[in-house]
Amino acid sequence: MRNRLKDAIHGERPAPKCALITGATGGIGEAFARALPEETHVILTGRDENKLAILRAELGDRAETVVADLTKVGELDQVIGAAEAAGCDLVINNAGLGEYGDFLAADFEKHRTTLRVNIEAVLELTHKLVPGMIAQAERTDQRAGLINVASSAAFIPVPTLATYAASKAMVLSFTESFAAELADKPIDILASCPGAVKTEFGSRAGFKGGAMPGAMSPDKVASETLSALGRQTTVVIGPVSAGAFTGVAFARSTFGQMFMRASQVMERMGNRD
Ligand SMILES: NC(=O)c1ccc[n+]([C@@H]2O[C@H](COP(=O)([O-])OP(=O)(O)OC[C@H]3O[C@@H](n4cnc5c(N)ncnc54)[C@H](OP(=O)(O)O)[C@@H]3O)[C@@H](O)[C@H]2O)c1
Repeated sequence: MRNRLKDAIHGERPAPKCALITGATGGIGEAFARALPEETHVILTGRDENKLAILRAELGDRAETVVADLTKVGELDQVIGAAEAAGCDLVINNAGLGEYGDFLAADFEKHRTTLRVNIEAVLELTHKLVPGMIAQAERTDQRAGLINVASSAAFIPVPTLATYAASKAMVLSFTESFAAELADKPIDILASCPGAVKTEFGSRAGFKGGAMPGAMSPDKVASETLSALGRQTTVVIGPVSAGAFTGVAFARSTFGQMFMRASQVMERMGNRD
């Protein structure tokens, strides 16, 4: 299994020098940490210091940890500082949460936290880290990578997870647009859209119904996401989700690229006046 996962990213891209993984204290983030090649230094972040220490002990010297709450500006800055200091050439924006129930039933503070972690932190980490990653890629001739973990919920309304689904729609749309803007730069950008995954996400959201039927392992999500990096801009994972949304994802990404080209041509034509 381990070798297969390593091959997934080794296939066409060299092993990243250093990867920042948010939400590495469990579920899909932990699976990303294990799936990356052994030569990749990993920066693991999350709020749970104990869980970070256990994963660091398992991964050894190639791992470092930053205990940080992504809703807190100073702590987010520490994550950015650690990634810059280590010269991360892969950023995996994976941390995320949702609040199960009717929108009006939850205190607005819960929705605000979802927006901060799922959207603001993703955009801020991207905005602050990507310029340096591109400059490094140009110097070293090794492409950088950015993975934003969205969800299949990004494609549909999800009553009882309304804020969560809307936040993931934003992550998907942003990542598609950003990938088109940077198409000529040495960075591979990917939105990962898994269907249901067997993690603590549902119970932490307050859902008491247990795992969704057909939920995937986090290892499958990590491995398929890493395999897709550099090959496409959106990957939809899981039999039901992939069947329903892969075509939609392809059309969206194609439209994003067409819009980018059209606006470049119109700007060039406008400049002739
Ligand atoms: N599970 C699914 O069915 C599913 C499906 C599609 C997409 N996803 C997405 O996959 C990603 C990973 O979720 P998961 O399923 O692995 O869930 P999980 O097991 O609950 O893990 C969520 C991670 O996010 C971190 N996190 C939450 N709030 C944070 C905060 N304020 N500051 C810093 N880190 C925070 C948690 O770390 P701490 O608690 O230690 O801070 C944890 O490591 C999420 O973006 C989720 O939306 C999940």
